[in-house]
Amino acid sequence: MRCLRKPPSWISGVLGVAVLTVLFADRAPSAEETKEMAAAAPAAAASNAADALVERGRYVALAANCASCHTRPGGAAYAGGVAFETPLGTIYSTNITSSPERGIGKWTAQDLRRALHEGIAAGGYRLFPAFPYTSFTQMTDEDVDALYAYMRTVPADEYQPPDNDFVFKQRWAMTLWNALFFEPARFEPDPKQTPEWNRGAYLVGALGHCGACHTPRNRFMAEMTDKAYQGGTLREYVTADKVRDWAAVNLTSSADGLKTWSVDDLTKYLHKGFSLRGGTWGPMNEVVGNSTSKLTLEDARAMATYIKSLPPKSPPEGAQTQAPVTAEQAALGEGIYHDRCEKCHGASGRGGMFSGPPLAGSAIVQSADPDSLINAILYGATPPKGMTLGAWETMKPLADVLSDTEIANVANYVRGSWGNAAPPVDAARVAKQR
Ligand code: HEC
Ligand code: HEC
Ligand code: HEC
Repeated sequence: MRCLRKPPSWISGVLGVAVLTVLFADRAPSAEETKEMAAAAPAAAASNAADALVERGRYVALAANCASCHTRPGGAAYAGGVAFETPLGTIYSTNITSSPERGIGKWTAQDLRRALHEGIAAGGYRLFPAFPYTSFTQMTDEDVDALYAYMRTVPADEYQPPDNDFVFKQRWAMTLWNALFFEPARFEPDPKQTPEWNRGAYLVGALGHCGACHTPRNRFMAEMTDKAYQGGTLREYVTADKVRDWAAVNLTSSADGLKTWSVDDLTKYLHKGFSLRGGTWGPMNEVVGNSTSKLTLEDARAMATYIKSLPPKSPPEGAQTQAPVTAEQAALGEGIYHDRCEKCHGASGRGGMFSGPPLAGSAIVQSADPDSLINAILYGATPPKGMTLGAWETMKPLADVLSDTEIANVANYVRGSWGNAAPPVDAARVAKQR
């Protein structure tokens, strides 16, 4: 009880209240005891507030998917070392555990704000935008402070990530890049929109950094904000000398985007991993598995509401200038579709609750950039571990079963049937993805 009189910290305050409650549960407290309890109350309230702040920070970390980039497979949470392979070399994510030496244990809340809002680390060096501070700059100070409180509870780990390749040591270059392509700015709610829409815009733009993949980039790797969410590309380095390119599809409501998806469809996809319009697989497995499926249903719905409000826009580069697949080209893949795909995606391309997602109206099928479609056929499509797709049987890889020409033919069949209209794919494109 001694600690109750002069609680040295909020922890003993809580313990004290708990012990008092147990000891004196079945008799009325004396006047002095009541005074002691009253003295402990503010300490307990403070601890609740501290817990709530940490909990809010934990949620912000989920929505911003810090773990996907900072927790390497088999490594401690947030200990860094995830490799980002780029055409310019490799950059590794940092240890951001509470370790004072290796992590960010010595950082102040102000340091974390500066990193997330301006891309400048404690110590003053510039960070590369592989760390999406270009999105996080929109985060509110309150969310960063909550994140800070949460990061301090992450157990220290002494792992030291490998050194970056040469280019990613030239941090001075980022001064110029930032001057050209980056303007720090907090999120501004749009008073003409609903609170739900604004929450969605914040979750998608500031935290979820969906544009990091879904917005096209210029040749200096800066997001083209005037073409936001119209579809980008992503290069996965499967091994040191093998790349796999992906089309991060158009998220606007154009025909080659999410036109056929309702707000409900998109909400369910983000929250549960699948809906009658599509299921998660490929690079979206990290996004849905580690982040959106762990958010509240209301937040998933807010994101869907915002995304579905984006005006329909088709991708900029050359896409529409290329003529869609002709009937003759499509016909070459009809037999393969019948043998290899129809069972799950249906003769009408509409899929079904017990078979598979629709290919009619699919953004992945119709994307001007066919790489994700080719990847689905070559490597199959499965959700992340631990998630299921209801009654759907997952899609097996066909890389060893079909030739490049056969895959191009069946891709052209689905790109030119049931009202789909996308430019043709050739065998060379498939070969590039193998
Ligand atoms: C898309 C991947 C990605 C995401 C998401 C991401 N980071 Fe990072 N982060 C990186 C990379 C890569 C670096 C290294 C950048 C560099 O060295 O210039 C980094 C660096 C940092 C640094 C600088 C550390 C130092 O010591 O210099 C901090 C702090 C940080 N991240 C915190 C976070 C937090 C908090 C989140 C979630 C809100 C987050 N990151 C989300 C990839 C990511
Ligand atoms: C790391 C890159 C990356 C990030 C970040 C990302 N996406 Fe994607 N997304 C992709 C790729 C690649 C595809 C196509 C292949 C696939 O589905 O994985 C895709 C596909 C999609 C699809 C279409 C799914 C389908 O089956 O038709 C939707 C919807 C989507 N993303 C929404 C989002 C939202 C919302 C966010 C932000 C919370 C987001 N994405 C963040 C890369 C990304
Ligand atoms: C055994 C059933 C099955 C077969 C056979 C099958 N698929 Fe799939 N396919 C699926 C399922 C299930 C998914 C969703 C997987 C997920 O989301 O993780 C899918 C996803 C896809 C996608 C991504 C769609 C989107 O919008 O997300 C494409 C494209 C696709 N399949 C094309 C094909 C083609 C082309 C063939 C034939 C060469 C084929 N599939 C054969 C079950 C199948």
